[in-house]
Amino acid sequence: MTELTIRPIRDDENDAVISIWEKSGLTRAHNPPFEDLNFMLATPTSEVLVGLIDDEILATVNVCHEGHRGWMYYLGVDPDGGGSGYGSAMVGAAEAWLKERKVRKVQLMIRPDNKDVMNFYDRLGYEDNPCVLKQKWLLD
Ligand SMILES: CC(C)(COP(=O)(O)OP(=O)(O)OC[C@H]1O[C@@H](n2cnc3c(N)ncnc32)[C@H](O)[C@@H]1OP(=O)(O)O)[C@@H](O)C(=O)NCCC(=O)NCCS
Repeated sequence: MTELTIRPIRDDENDAVISIWEKSGLTRAHNPPFEDLNFMLATPTSEVLVGLIDDEILATVNVCHEGHRGWMYYLGVDPDGGGSGYGSAMVGAAEAWLKERKVRKVQLMIRPDNKDVMNFYDRLGYEDNPCVLKQKWLLD
């Protein structure tokens, strides 16, 4: 397997990142992707990492913390990228980013229609969290 180069997103790479989100089925109508991405980029405790082979972005993840726990969002690998191990490599890079900032635990949410992906996280040592997630929309 060719190893991914993983680094923070650069200014001209928003389109490429959103293309990965779209190709890997992560976008939803209630999450306008450019707004979401700009919000991540404007947040000091949030980073968008990209994974590249030969200068082409094939994977991405948002890693962040809010002063307590670490979170991962928008983990996606280009389904046409031809590699394997890229998702695991992106998770590893996100975990390293959090450890550097002394964040003790990382969490993530899985949509109910994406239960198969639990196997992926189980292999990487992730456990189920018994908490119920509650939510309330504050802005339209
Ligand atoms: C989930 C995802 C990031 C994994 O990326 P990847 O590059 O395929 O991951 P890896 O190659 O590192 O996979 C590690 C192992 O998990 C398994 N795996 C990966 N995705 C899986 C899935 N959706 N369901 C079940 N097993 C999966 C792989 O088969 C692999 O097993 P192996 O080591 O026996 O080959 C990628 O499939 C993806 O972009 N999915 C769509 C978006 C998504 O669901 N993101 C997560 C939101 S919570």
